[in-house]
Amino acid sequence: MIYLNGEFMPIEHAKISVLDRGFIFGDGVYEVVPTYSRRPFRLAEHLARLQTSLDAIRLANPNTNAKWSELVGRIIAGNPWEDQNVYLQITRGVARRDHAFPTGLKPTVFLMATELVTPSAELLKTGARAIVLPDFRWLRCDIKSTSLLGNCMLRTQAAEAGCTEAILVREGELTEASASNVFVVKNGTVLAPPKSHLILPGITYDVVLEILRGNAIPHEVRPVRESELRSADEVWVTSSSREVLPITTLDGKPVGPGKPGPVGLRVHALYQQYKAQVMRAPVHA
Ligand SMILES: Cc1ncc(COP(=O)(O)O)c(C=O)c1O
Repeated sequence: MIYLNGEFMPIEHAKISVLDRGFIFGDGVYEVVPTYSRRPFRLAEHLARLQTSLDAIRLANPNTNAKWSELVGRIIAGNPWEDQNVYLQITRGVARRDHAFPTGLKPTVFLMATELVTPSAELLKTGARAIVLPDFRWLRCDIKSTSLLGNCMLRTQAAEAGCTEAILVREGELTEASASNVFVVKNGTVLAPPKSHLILPGITYDVVLEILRGNAIPHEVRPVRESELRSADEVWVTSSSREVLPITTLDGKPVGPGKPGPVGLRVHALYQQYKAQVMRAPVHA
């Protein structure tokens, strides 16, 4: 079951206009909220990031957070999986094709869910493969925009090379990956690129930094050079669906000894612990 503009329906019944600015220009923003045992994880943070994306593209939020929460709850209840990715998207709506933002449109609001499948035990054991590519995307990667053509091109190149992710560098510095943030470990210290207009402020990135702080794991949030990425002892990618996934091969070469490292394994375990603890906590209104 999906939600479109005020109605719940099977996805096959959902229709939008070909003049929707989401279709014509990619003029919209989105969120993906991971949901475990039918409880959304960090919903308030996802809704806060949604608001930031909406503000950045000057689109009024069509719902209050209470309404979003209700819609997310109904989508979770209306779909068969215990663990879901709840996807929500807002576009500027339908208008005659003209680049400048028209005002006064009725936004298109869409929610759907897919099954949330986190990395398998096998993949976590071996780690994943990645390639390093130049980050040719625009300079507002902090906006969670549905205009993802650059990310799609980069991810396709990774897939064609038999890799799970494309890790991106711009002017000699690590930014993020095509659909995840990146952490590296050198000599026991975790390095993370700071939030800026060049990366999406990941919700998982924030959870990982909280874990690092909370457990006194040495870390530095600072620009990470491409050379540091390439000579790292460990590389991980983080996202809502990948959680904390070790990368053990970069451009065909092993990262460190070519297997998941101790810091990543520890942070992965702490992440699972944190998730379990949050999911056991009482539900707040
Ligand atoms: C480009 C990009 N960076 C980072 C992330 C990670 O964000 P989050 O941890 O909120 O899933 C994503 C998530 O899909 C993404 O698309």
